Amino acid sequence: MTAKILILPGDGIGPEIMEQAERVLEALRARHGFDARWSHALIGGAAVDASGEPLPAATLEAARQADAVLLAAVGGPKYDGLPRERRPERGLLGIRKALGLFANLRPAILYPELASASSLKPELVENLDLLIVRELTGGIYFGQPRGIEIRDGERVGVNTEVYSESEIERIARSAFEAARLRGKRLCSVDKENVLEASVLWREVVVRVSKDYPDVQLSHLLVDNAAMQLVRAPKQFDVIVTSNLFGDILSDIAAQLTGSIGMLPSASLNERGQGLYEPIHGSAPDLAGLGVANPLAMILSVAMMLRYSLKRGDLADRVESAVKGALAAGLRTRDIARPGEKVVGTREMGEAVAGLL
Ligand code: IPM
Ligand code: MG
Repeated sequence: MTAKILILPGDGIGPEIMEQAERVLEALRARHGFDARWSHALIGGAAVDASGEPLPAATLEAARQADAVLLAAVGGPKYDGLPRERRPERGLLGIRKALGLFANLRPAILYPELASASSLKPELVENLDLLIVRELTGGIYFGQPRGIEIRDGERVGVNTEVYSESEIERIARSAFEAARLRGKRLCSVDKENVLEASVLWREVVVRVSKDYPDVQLSHLLVDNAAMQLVRAPKQFDVIVTSNLFGDILSDIAAQLTGSIGMLPSASLNERGQGLYEPIHGSAPDLAGLGVANPLAMILSVAMMLRYSLKRGDLADRVESAVKGALAAGLRTRDIARPGEKVVGTREMGEAVAGLL
């Protein structure tokens, strides 16, 4: 069956890195019998420019019809003055919520060639391979009440951390399942010493763990988890955590691997439909310069092939091609050491496609 992919290039460096992802899709179609067709739609600032809203109904409808969605990045300083509901980020949060993409998988893998690009000592990050499972459609990102209101004659900003038992249970199950396929160790991260939402989180995770006796469960408070990630990151196999904590910890994990330009992610719903995006943003300062690293975007294609399109064989090929390009010495400027030759977005994309 022909796979239907929706492509959302978005803003900033988004269109440039997406062009390289499409180059990879083309190479798979031309050389490896990949049966797929793809179409494009607008999201984020690009959609605001065209239609006034960050998530047009047509985009959401196309996403619902697709087997998988590839998204690059949204946002830019041009949109800073817009009301919250029309900001580009609302497009991203809106599509995550509307498609029910509650399970966000963010693997952090250190490629041996990039050990020196990490800000940690090479021996601390050598062979690093961890997975953050971030809850993506709940918590303080979406909790009510929220807003800016007047209390006692001054403005107060309000957000609410809310998690229901069922929301915690399903993300815990996703994380236990993921741990089963890896090192069988799961660390749940919360702030149980302060937040009620975390007390419930921990209780439900412990309850779910009874169904996974083969997975070793541990717990860390989020402040300690942040410290452990930069002290001894190799102690982790799978981490499961809330939306906000996962946002923060996954940026730390990205830097461990040398560059945020290397980390892909998969966001899955209960039907196995997925949205695939790099964890980095739209990097407005790099937009249009042709220097951005397209590898997180290309590795997101690999995750899409593996999780939504059930083509693990092609995913392996893409990941090997990325390793091949790194082994051949290609470096975009975010992962280059002083003195190393730097290639642009397009050269990196062409190299990976050429190795397929
Ligand atoms: C991410 C990003 C988004 C988030 C932003 C752009 C809204 O930081 O995917 O990690 O906070 O989820
Ligand atoms: Mg983030």
